[in-house]
Amino acid sequence: MATPVRIIGLSGSLRRGSYNTALVRAMAELAGESVTVEPATLHGIPVYDGDLEEAEGIPEAVEALKERIAAADGLMIATPEYNNAVPGALKNGIDWLSRPPKDIGRVFRDRPVAITGATPGAFGTAHAQAAWLPVIRTLRMRPWFGGRLMISRAGDVFADEGTLTDDDQRKKLAEFVDGFATFIRGGDGS
Ligand code: FNR
Repeated sequence: MATPVRIIGLSGSLRRGSYNTALVRAMAELAGESVTVEPATLHGIPVYDGDLEEAEGIPEAVEALKERIAAADGLMIATPEYNNAVPGALKNGIDWLSRPPKDIGRVFRDRPVAITGATPGAFGTAHAQAAWLPVIRTLRMRPWFGGRLMISRAGDVFADEGTLTDDDQRKKLAEFVDGFATFIRGGDGS
């Protein structure tokens, strides 16, 4: 029996009908035995403002997400792509999660991380996924590069209510989560 693995699946979109949130939910559904993917979103996190931080400290929604990530075995980021780069809400969330700097070690350092993303466009969030690399390097995370999952033409593979209906993508998604879990357990997961 494989060691149980807990992954936080963070969607980078606040949108009710978000494809990236649907992607994280599909991961929770399709994760194999001994792997759990727990969906998380950025709701309730304000725009970063150093004055707000100084006056009121770290917002409750940020603290809660920090603790969930710190307690997990790995972080799966499902990123939208905006203007060929990272979306502001998700960058803002990660920036908040990196405060105060003394907590970066506990929350991020050496934590396995995988990046995926979904878009109605043709290029599967390839630019956004690459644009995250300097951030995860700065936070000293442990990226998994053994697999790639880029969902293009999302409207064709998700049903209106957000179920991943495309059999080929379901298989690829299950393999992606499985590969990341193997990496977390200490294998190379490729
Ligand atoms: C987009 N979108 C987009 N898509 C893409 O593949 N490449 C891009 O560069 C952009 N740029 C972009 C900029 C802005 C400001 C918006 C609002 C949107 C489309 C984007 O992929 C689409 O809105 C997705 O549905 C966003 O992800 P969620 O909300 O479905 O998870």
